[in-house]
Amino acid sequence: MIKNKLHAGDCLPFLERLPALSVDALITDPPYASGGVHIGSKNRSTSDKYQNGGTARQYPEFTGDHRDQRAHLRWMTLWLSECLRVMKDGAPICLFTDWRQLPLTTDALQVAGFTWRGIAVWDKGEGVRPQMGRYRNQAEYIVWGSKGDMPLDRGVGVLRGVYKEVVKQKDKFHVTGKPTDLMRDLIKICPAGGVILDPFAGSGSTLLAAESAGYDWLGCELSEEYKAIALNRLATLRAE
Ligand SMILES: C[S@@+](CC[C@H](N)C(=O)[O-])C[C@H]1O[C@@H](n2cnc3c(N)ncnc32)[C@H](O)[C@@H]1O
Repeated sequence: MIKNKLHAGDCLPFLERLPALSVDALITDPPYASGGVHIGSKNRSTSDKYQNGGTARQYPEFTGDHRDQRAHLRWMTLWLSECLRVMKDGAPICLFTDWRQLPLTTDALQVAGFTWRGIAVWDKGEGVRPQMGRYRNQAEYIVWGSKGDMPLDRGVGVLRGVYKEVVKQKDKFHVTGKPTDLMRDLIKICPAGGVILDPFAGSGSTLLAAESAGYDWLGCELSEEYKAIALNRLATLRAE
């Protein structure tokens, strides 16, 4: 197994090639297939769904975000089942999702065979998604659990359950990119020196956080454009 390498293509064949019991944590941000209840709204481009009109900067589109609920649950369960095989016993799993896909994500994690243990919150701050007369949609969620029992003595301290991190333009390289500092906090659930898997690497935020904290990592990304962006960010980090 070659570590610290970003693979190109669909994550399913990539995951099938990984050896069993080889990964210490799965931390990933899969396509949400959200952005609307009906097929017409789900099929909009990712920039239309997620860019929210607020920024002049354009990001590449990505695929895999169009499925209806039934197909999305099936697909999530497919790749998560492969992840279950490659993860070590007791290893943590963290999946990003939004409010619409929260129930589907907790279902998929459990259908694949993981134990669901909770939900952490990413508070994006007061600058996002205001709605007149309604609550602001300013949070996304990290559904987390483990492969079976999760021993308390893994050498990991107490972690927060709520993370406030505003998206900064200079740290945003993907239409749905996660802040690198948020990822630096979240990956602390992996024991020191472990291997972190992200099959939906996007612009590489998880991989950057893992590498700068001294973890090994395994990444995969379907979009050639985002793979190039992630490799560029990793090269910049390594040159610092
Ligand atoms: C939500 S984004 C991840 C963004 C990432 N967390 C970041 O901060 O840049 C999901 C990514 O999964 C990729 N993707 C979609 N389907 C995929 C598949 N079957 N295998 C691998 N990657 C896929 C998309 O191209 C997209 O970049």
